[in-house]
Amino acid sequence: MTPGRIAAFMAGMFENMPTDVRLLDAGAGMGALTAAFVTEACRRADRPASITVTAYEVDPQMADILDGTMQACEDRCAESGITFSCQVIRDDYILRSAEPLLAHSPAFNCAILNPPYGKINVSSEWRHALRSLGIETVNLYTAFVAVALNQLEHGGELVAITPRSFCNGSYYESFRRQMLDTSALLALHVFESRKTAFKDDDVLQENMIFHVRKGTPQAEVALSTDAAPARAVPFAEIVRPNDRHAFIRLPVDGDGLAARVQALPCTLVDLGIKVSTGRVVDFRATEHLRKMPGDDTVPLIYPTHFDNGAIRWPVPESKKHNAIADNPETASLMVPGGVYVLTKRFSAKEEKRRLVAAIYDGGRVGFENHLNYFHENGKGLPMDLARGLSAFLNSEAVDQYFRIFSGHTQVNATDLRSLHFPTRAQLIALGTGETTMADLV
Ligand SMILES: C[S@@+](CC[C@H](N)C(=O)[O-])C[C@H]1O[C@@H](n2cnc3c(N)ncnc32)[C@H](O)[C@@H]1O
Repeated sequence: MTPGRIAAFMAGMFENMPTDVRLLDAGAGMGALTAAFVTEACRRADRPASITVTAYEVDPQMADILDGTMQACEDRCAESGITFSCQVIRDDYILRSAEPLLAHSPAFNCAILNPPYGKINVSSEWRHALRSLGIETVNLYTAFVAVALNQLEHGGELVAITPRSFCNGSYYESFRRQMLDTSALLALHVFESRKTAFKDDDVLQENMIFHVRKGTPQAEVALSTDAAPARAVPFAEIVRPNDRHAFIRLPVDGDGLAARVQALPCTLVDLGIKVSTGRVVDFRATEHLRKMPGDDTVPLIYPTHFDNGAIRWPVPESKKHNAIADNPETASLMVPGGVYVLTKRFSAKEEKRRLVAAIYDGGRVGFENHLNYFHENGKGLPMDLARGLSAFLNSEAVDQYFRIFSGHTQVNATDLRSLHFPTRAQLIALGTGETTMADLV
């Protein structure tokens, strides 16, 4: 549920208060957002003449409470001379919206959302319903926003609080395009600490609030954080003009470190280096896993083996396995001996950095699937290059880059492939200590 302070902040973001508000609150819960909107509308000098709310809530118990909130909203409006009416639809928002009568009919001029979060399976009813509306997306929260945008009339405003994950990643590309093609981004508000917005819930994803207006030209974007007031940022800094993936970037840092990483000259392709995800998916290889090394095994490296930039192996006290049997069945999971730079795909909550790198220097090995490894055509890297690459990946600058340009706490191989790097010679110089990160960015 959205805390009152945040709901009020979201309601305050609406620029235009239409004379006759037609408000959508999809996944309304107990009605915190509608209540905040009504309070805001009553407070404004240009208060509306009427407010008509359509609230969807699938959970019957929530919907009962929602009825009470709507009654309170009506009373509040009556005090301010605003005509209030509402419809609480106790149904699935996505499925109901795909019904022929509702599909494609812009009905609202305001929408305020804190949508549910959850994966949408390929064969689900939701997926079919969304497809019938011309929407391709993989999560309920982006589905809610996409459907709401369809139902918004020209000039209508939408304010939503959601995880940040839609800002990058190929899964959300079609959602980003739909939003950016149909609407102008007016404001983005980023919660910098993971739990600021929902202190009481165990919400791992970082949250953000965004404010868009349908059908109007894009101008500068007001970018704020829970720590810094809004500043106007050129749209080209948010979505790069030539970005084929239309990533939404959140340049919230002050000193531009991340932007300097972005300006570095090389990609991994230029460096002749590749990054791959560890091939050992442990639950698919259980019969071959060994707690400790033996005659017929090779090391199995997990994130637990990371120790201050190096690999500490074996770790006998670890719950994870330390070795994998080396036999014809596991041969395809192995990597030849050599020097590799490994990065964790998921950072633990207590970890200071988004990206954590370590150097593996040893014989034939199995890298577990929670790791990515950098290699040259499947083989190891020269040690100085590996040292430089690891120092670069562990740097403050790269950390800043991922905080700004990545919506989630996970750093996948695709994210690493879109990162910019110093030249090979510079990385080697960093590895030998002839140069420092401060010289490079
Ligand atoms: C994250 S909560 C937010 C509630 C409320 N908007 C708020 O901000 O406090 C999302 C709500 O959506 C409801 N919900 C989940 N799936 C839904 C669906 N398919 N259709 C309508 N409501 C749904 C949940 O029951 C829950 O109350």
